[in-house]
Amino acid sequence: MSIKFNQTTKSITLHTKHTSYQMKIGNLDYLLHLYYGPTIRDADMGYQIMQYDRGFSGNPYESRNARTFSLDAQPQEFTTQQQGDFRTTSIEVVNGDGSYSYNGKAVDFKITKGKYQLDTLPCVFANDEDTVDTLEVTLLDTISNVQIILLYSVFEEADIITRAVKVKNLGEKSIHLKKIMSVCLDFLNGANFDLVSLPGRYGQERQVERQKMTHHIHTIGSVRGSSSHQQNPFVILCDRNATEDYGNCYGFSLMYSGNFLTEVELDQYDQLRLVMGIHPKQFVYEVKPQEVFEGPEVVMAFTEYGFTGLSHLYHDFYRSNLCKSKFVKDVQRPVLINSWEAAFMDFDDVKLVNIAKAAKKMGVDLLVMDDGWFGKRDDDNSGLGDWVVNEKKIKCGLHKLVEQINDLDMKFGIWFEPEMVSEDSDLYRAHPEWAMQIPGRHAVRSRNQMALDMSRKDVQDYLIEKVNAILDNANIFYVKWDINRSLADIWSNNLPADKQGEVYHRYILGLYRVMDAIIKTHPDILFEGCSGGGGRYDAAMLHYYPQYWVSDNNHPIDRLKLHYGTSFVYPISSMGAHISDSGRLVPLKTKAVVAMCGTFGYELDATHLSEEEQKLCKEQSELFRKYYHIIFDGDYYRLTNPFEIGNMTAWQHVTKDKSESLLSVVVTNLTCNGPQEYIHAKGLEPNAMYTINDSKEAYSGSALMNAGIPINREVPEYTAFQFHLQKQ
Ligand code: DGJ
Repeated sequence: MSIKFNQTTKSITLHTKHTSYQMKIGNLDYLLHLYYGPTIRDADMGYQIMQYDRGFSGNPYESRNARTFSLDAQPQEFTTQQQGDFRTTSIEVVNGDGSYSYNGKAVDFKITKGKYQLDTLPCVFANDEDTVDTLEVTLLDTISNVQIILLYSVFEEADIITRAVKVKNLGEKSIHLKKIMSVCLDFLNGANFDLVSLPGRYGQERQVERQKMTHHIHTIGSVRGSSSHQQNPFVILCDRNATEDYGNCYGFSLMYSGNFLTEVELDQYDQLRLVMGIHPKQFVYEVKPQEVFEGPEVVMAFTEYGFTGLSHLYHDFYRSNLCKSKFVKDVQRPVLINSWEAAFMDFDDVKLVNIAKAAKKMGVDLLVMDDGWFGKRDDDNSGLGDWVVNEKKIKCGLHKLVEQINDLDMKFGIWFEPEMVSEDSDLYRAHPEWAMQIPGRHAVRSRNQMALDMSRKDVQDYLIEKVNAILDNANIFYVKWDINRSLADIWSNNLPADKQGEVYHRYILGLYRVMDAIIKTHPDILFEGCSGGGGRYDAAMLHYYPQYWVSDNNHPIDRLKLHYGTSFVYPISSMGAHISDSGRLVPLKTKAVVAMCGTFGYELDATHLSEEEQKLCKEQSELFRKYYHIIFDGDYYRLTNPFEIGNMTAWQHVTKDKSESLLSVVVTNLTCNGPQEYIHAKGLEPNAMYTINDSKEAYSGSALMNAGIPINREVPEYTAFQFHLQKQ
């Protein structure tokens, strides 16, 4: 058992291979957090908490005249509300009597085998239930009768602990949740932490930012209805001196695709509190008597081995415990060509077949028909919602088109944007009440489309039926699921006025239901998520789709930063990356090397390429297949930081057995007559000998890691090198 209860000290310790996490049923039955970090024994870590009069702090009534115990200074697993802890909270609830108070005490706990599941939200899973243990702690406020169930699953081998929260109303009147955070983690000594986050914007998602924690609440979040381009539901708390390879790093990855919030507060005593969960903006959720509300899961990891150590934990875990698609492990992903940048919406069946024929010569396996094939859709002002093939464009019909592609020995994929509706569409004309808009107001325009009210069951059922009808009508191998606006007009015609604060969250629940239903009935289809590029690239989406489009920005030099940032948490096998026309001065080979840090494909009009270019593409597609196992199953290393001024960006993939490696370098900024540059490999076996690109000579792993590989400077800017290291 990886979870142990100490009867004498009332402490509960969760052990993974290299970490321990401890809590304790402490003074007055409050559930205190005691420790998270490198492995400790089961000794009660409560000795760290010194109780003293904090002056001006609140003390629980039960303490009577003793002034030394204040919740304002206690590290807690889940906070109270209005009980004298003035820091940010886990919960804000309006009780049945109108009061805003929560005073939960530990009343029960149980330890069981296997992973907990949530009924309404996606979760990671255990591949073998025997290897995972779950702790469930129940807190109860005996006045309001609100019960909190804290869930922890321990993936011992993976060094991962997941957390989630349930709220059960045992009272006789409805309660209203205004804030419910899935995780609260308190550090007694928090003065020397940095917070790393992945902010960005359209076309520049998941750039990396690191900030020193100071005495206020730092917030990272999204209120755009989706996890967004602008922030990502993943943060790292690390030591001030943590680097790629060394230093304590804590990761928090939220399994949620809607509005989210992370708050990190450094308090008056230099204690640090992190909470993470659904964003409280416009969130008021009624929980009726006996009902349960579930908050999304947080996947936590800790390592002493810096950002790389943390990325490896997440990459390994998300490659094996997040998504059940057969494309995660068992079936190799195809090399695809997507029609978007080749033709935008200006195509017909003949043009698509011609692109496919040319792409075939480039070693492409799959043609994807992007936006423009349905309803009336010649530009982005109309058609969304009408998921019926436009036979003016696809004159031969979808079935025949797919047959023609299949006859080329290629597979066929298709694009959808199910959550959206155009004002100029048959669907909107038939069901204007299905579009989210606030009564008496016009909807905010954004790409001239509106969001469907995904909280409605009739909308969900319509989408399941329409998307499934297309998928069942032809031999479809791949689906790209897009969403191209943020939500602004939060209103559901189906809900009464006092429940409009539930719409943001109900939208996400509805979305998950639709995706789940479609994916479960089509387990053989490869799904790729997309949101105007990578605007909803999060762990929950990767539960449904094994891959996600990183960004609409295909410029290979910008992509170096995009891939770098995304790789902090999400595995390379999830990163949709294509070669396109973007980046005129960048050689085709460099574009290919960059796209190989991901799922690899093309986003251009293959018919416009010269024979020589097509041949080069074919070679690159073959190389991708050759290196697939290194890229998809290996360990990934960021060798340089593209956000720092330097001359090269380099990264490396190493197979788990260290027998092979692919080290890639892009020369980005050559200075005249500069010093010789060396790229230091990582992750090799120091005493093993490696050949480089089938060289006659072999070099030791320690030489390649310590002295590095010299990079030829006498090359044009944007040259790329790819070194295949093979152990002898
Ligand atoms: C945004 C996506 O990111 C693009 O790849 C493309 O699918 C367009 N939407 C289509 O409208």
